Amino acid sequence: MNRELKILVTGAAGFIGSSLCLKLLENGQNVIGIDNINDYYDVNLKKDRLKNIEKLSFLKEKSWQFFSIALENTSKLNELFDNFKFDLVVNLAAQAGVRYSLTNPAAYISSNLVGFANILEALRKNEIENLIYASSSSVYGLSKKIPFSENDCVSHPISLYAATKSSNELMAHSYSHLYGIQSIGLRFFTVYGPWGRPDMAPMIFAKSIFERKPIDVFNYGEMERDFTYIDDVVESIYRCCLKPANNDLSFDMENSKPATSFAPHMILNVGNKNPVNLNYFIEILEKEIGIKAIKNFKEIQPGDVVKTYADTDLLEKWINFKPITTFENGIKKFVNWYRNYYIG
Ligand SMILES: NC(=O)c1ccc[n+]([C@@H]2O[C@H](COP(=O)([O-])OP(=O)(O)OC[C@H]3O[C@@H](n4cnc5c(N)ncnc54)[C@H](O)[C@@H]3O)[C@@H](O)[C@H]2O)c1
Repeated sequence: MNRELKILVTGAAGFIGSSLCLKLLENGQNVIGIDNINDYYDVNLKKDRLKNIEKLSFLKEKSWQFFSIALENTSKLNELFDNFKFDLVVNLAAQAGVRYSLTNPAAYISSNLVGFANILEALRKNEIENLIYASSSSVYGLSKKIPFSENDCVSHPISLYAATKSSNELMAHSYSHLYGIQSIGLRFFTVYGPWGRPDMAPMIFAKSIFERKPIDVFNYGEMERDFTYIDDVVESIYRCCLKPANNDLSFDMENSKPATSFAPHMILNVGNKNPVNLNYFIEILEKEIGIKAIKNFKEIQPGDVVKTYADTDLLEKWINFKPITTFENGIKKFVNWYRNYYIG
């Protein structure tokens, strides 16, 4: 039996956050969730995810509390941190999405920079020693060196979204160095699966295919994404919850990872190490849905990267786990969920 922790999950109504809360409760942890339940996408989906967590906590008689709080609201955050002595904070709340950052940059500055700084300050003031936070594969920008390794230079973001995520890594590193906060930044690679985000390709494409409407296929289908199944992502986060970062140089000597040399701060890729071509992705979706897609081929969008490909050696070495779900199996589970939830 693992040690019982009191864990704050921010972004608890979100795709990854809600799935993580379920996993934590299933494993007997005490979970407090916060989210501002913003309307970037369908609020009902967020509320339904929260209902699932509520149901599970009732069934398992586990401690779950949810508060509607924005990361920018420092007085409410202070009150929350005064009321609970958290062992660990998992910060998943953020303005996600690359394309939206071109039209609404302010949302990214507010949630991802101001909000993230508020979380770091709350940790410092309340002497909380452990942090896990969401970074993104988008920090690798147009890097041609594949697979993407945590040692690669990430100072050339091609979207404001990516710039905020790179900034989070730098901000966390400084707090980690100054105040000894043990932090792990997880670079997620295109997470998909049941209860996914309606602004991401699997959901956009599935909806249009079911409705027999055309889908936009950017870069004429010549894109690759290292799709990572939600259960594998959640397993990775959970294992990191049980194994806080340290600055034990023996761990990363051979990788000569400079970031961890100065602070108990680590960066880990959470990917599938298996890039999938966009045309193949559509083919598998068509097969599972049983309907042919109507394709509208288009040029690449500004801010989009052509290929993502995760080196997951460091993740595996740290938590003794690497994502295992095949793309074909993951899409099957995703389409089953989509059918049940949206079509009935
Ligand atoms: N899903 C992916 O493929 C992916 C890939 C890379 C990184 N990430 C990162 O992982 C994290 C979780 O992503 P997700 O896919 O679950 O996104 P999501 O949008 O489903 O979840 C984020 C949640 O945070 C909440 N939120 C946003 N701003 C907030 C604020 N200022 N205060 C309080 N709550 C706020 C939203 O309401 C939402 O419910 C994000 O940080 C995202 O950038 C996700």
